Amino acid sequence: MPDEKQYVTPTPAREFDRRAFFTKIGLGSLGIAAAGTVGFTYEFLSPNVLYEPSPIINAGKPESFEVDSVTMDVNSGIYLVRAAEGFYALSAVCTHLGCLTAWSQELGIIKCPCHGSEFTRTGVKIEGPAPKPLPWLRTWVSDDGDLMVDRSMNIPPLQFLRI
Ligand code: FES
Repeated sequence: MPDEKQYVTPTPAREFDRRAFFTKIGLGSLGIAAAGTVGFTYEFLSPNVLYEPSPIINAGKPESFEVDSVTMDVNSGIYLVRAAEGFYALSAVCTHLGCLTAWSQELGIIKCPCHGSEFTRTGVKIEGPAPKPLPWLRTWVSDDGDLMVDRSMNIPPLQFLRI
């Protein structure tokens, strides 16, 4: 005797279940599309702001720099120089293609490792493809007595900060 359950035709309730299933999938897809639209709209309407670090550097107390010293701050890309005439800050970024230069204590010059440009400790180009000297940066002393440098503001060379 054959199994009767094998030949059972689908009942209307089963069809309704299938229809409900596809309806739910359709509604789910619409929900996902609506959520995506809301997300993109929020992204479009939010301000397009780049959060960059402040150009103002606190270099610390002036007494911590020896006279006739060149100190590089790798993180901020500056040199803090204490010369007999006073303090000054130079950008350590090469004016050729933007490599980070390095102070050579033995040679007493600033050298760029990328294409060989060389600069004096006051930023004047000695040789190499760099088109301009290293820029001097604005320096001042804060109310707390700290040396401050503004990387975003160049000043004419040989303006020493006397403390
Ligand atoms: S980037 Fe410094 S010499 Fe080219």
